Amino acid sequence: MIHEQLEIISKRPIAKDTVEMTFHGRMAQEKILPGQFLHLLVGEGTNHMLRRPISIAGVDKQASTITIIFKLLGEGTNTLAKAAPGDQLDALGPCGQGYPVDDLRLEQALLVGGGIGVPPLYYLAQCLKQKGVHVTMVAGFQNKEHVFYEDQFQTLGNYYLATDDGSAGVKGFVTDIISAEKLDFDQYFTCGPTGMLKAVSTQLSDQEGFISIEQRMGCGIGACFACVVPAPDSASGYKKICKDGPVFRAKEVVLT
Ligand SMILES: Cc1cc2nc3c(=O)[nH]c(=O)nc-3n(C[C@H](O)[C@H](O)[C@H](O)COP(=O)(O)OP(=O)(O)OC[C@H]3O[C@@H](n4cnc5c(N)ncnc54)[C@H](O)[C@@H]3O)c2cc1C
Ligand code: FES
Repeated sequence: MIHEQLEIISKRPIAKDTVEMTFHGRMAQEKILPGQFLHLLVGEGTNHMLRRPISIAGVDKQASTITIIFKLLGEGTNTLAKAAPGDQLDALGPCGQGYPVDDLRLEQALLVGGGIGVPPLYYLAQCLKQKGVHVTMVAGFQNKEHVFYEDQFQTLGNYYLATDDGSAGVKGFVTDIISAEKLDFDQYFTCGPTGMLKAVSTQLSDQEGFISIEQRMGCGIGACFACVVPAPDSASGYKKICKDGPVFRAKEVVLT
């Protein structure tokens, strides 16, 4: 992990309250696994605002760029959205443990993402495709206005879409699509709200899989214990999402 001032080189809205931002910096030359995140200091850093964790949604080593996608939720993300190309942003990264792409032995992968859990799965889908893995993506959003990267995912493999109100794709949840479609896969990879992670990991409990947990963080580097999750088989009985995760084997942690 390095500490760097990343330069914003582009910013664009891609869906309702959703922004894609690309940075230029030497961090892009680090080994970056999908699921790892940037811990960004937003605003001037003088208002005691904690850093905000945002997943890495894409890396272009040739251009030395890193892309993130974030949703405007509160003060931190709204301040971040005001930053403009040319601005420098104080970033720690790549943080945490990502999906162990290099060690995976599989032919077909099922990716299941909900809302702001979709961005890291885009980078994962790219990495898996590069390894020759066939990717099926199931994405869930609130409604049509919140959907993003539909075309981008479609270029990488099979793509299924669900919205809560049926305004795009199938009406319902990602779990409804998994039940309805005959999806062949060796392992699954899921990221999204805790409720969705629980539902997906319960539904696929007889399969091997990984979950990525997006929860509130303090320090983001393992020092403050703000992000612990029960892990009964570990020596301490818990794991830190920021340092040991955010990606875990599905059976390694207990979602609360
Ligand atoms: C490892 C990791 C990766 C993440 N990746 C992304 C990403 O790629 N894109 C993205 O948009 N967001 C991502 N998040 C969530 C993002 O960090 C929060 O949305 C952000 O911190 C909210 O800050 P805020 O100041 O705007 O909102 P706040 O004012 O802090 O909170 C506003 C609302 O958002 C809820 N909230 C705050 N933090 C989180 C959180 N971590 N998860 C879920 N809800 C939260 C609060 O309960 C509240 O309702 C990630 C979080 C983690 C831990
Ligand atoms: S956020 Fe501080 S230990 Fe994880």
